[in-house]
Amino acid sequence: MAEEAPVFNLSPDGPIGIFDSGVGGLSVWREIARQLPHESTLYVADQGHVPYGIRSLSEVREYTKGITRFLLARGAKIIVIACNTASGAALRTLRESFPGFAFVGMEPAVKPAAENTQTGVIAVIATKATFQGELFHSLVERFAAGVRLETQFCPELVELVERGDLDTPETETALRQCLTPLLEAGADHLVLGCTHYPFLVEAITRITGPNVTLVDPAPAVARQTARVLDYLNLRAPVTALVKHTFFTSGAPEAFETLAHRLVNFDGDIQSVAWHGNELQTTD
Ligand code: DGL
Repeated sequence: MAEEAPVFNLSPDGPIGIFDSGVGGLSVWREIARQLPHESTLYVADQGHVPYGIRSLSEVREYTKGITRFLLARGAKIIVIACNTASGAALRTLRESFPGFAFVGMEPAVKPAAENTQTGVIAVIATKATFQGELFHSLVERFAAGVRLETQFCPELVELVERGDLDTPETETALRQCLTPLLEAGADHLVLGCTHYPFLVEAITRITGPNVTLVDPAPAVARQTARVLDYLNLRAPVTALVKHTFFTSGAPEAFETLAHRLVNFDGDIQSVAWHGNELQTTD
């Protein structure tokens, strides 16, 4: 059901809102910043609730609505859900709750993998919640009809990335457990169905070897964001003052260290906290 009379402040000068349960969405933020260098962004990392992948659909929906209200109140002109889990759980709810506002969601990139496979076997790794969501079922029906699709959810990976353990023995063990059955099945394309996973590419590639193509949807999400902004006449002018602000409901210092390491970001990082269903800045 629609939220009460939402009033959108849509201006080309406004920022792009981006959110994830944590630092994973930075893999999408990085692509947006690269492809759309004149755009400002507001990024929310809901690290107070990470991981989303083990939570119920209704919990994730409430969080995403609260984050959306927070971003709208700060003038976001479009919102990119840089999280497969949240997109699968909440994209439809958000579009219904905020009618007329543009959301760009994500889904595991099954289509390009199915189109390009040579072995006829493709693999997807994602959170358990992503595989249970309706988006994933419709993806499989639409795009994976002619191929064999193998899936694995890898429960530890999100938390390992959140801790900055990108290449530790523990990460390697978790990855081997997750990837071995997929490699044994003969997959030649591995779809990274969670935005945290692109930060593990080096460790993943060491296990998969050079013959498996990793598919990260972030560049396609950034292109889609550009298309929607063009369609709505909301692209920032080339003269725009670009500003990137990050908010975390977790520990800002830890976020800062990790954001610097993952995407070389040094900038404005603010602390936010949940009060009931509302997200508020703490200072
Ligand atoms: N980065 C997320 C995704 O794409 C979130 C994972 C989680 O919080 O469990 O699915």
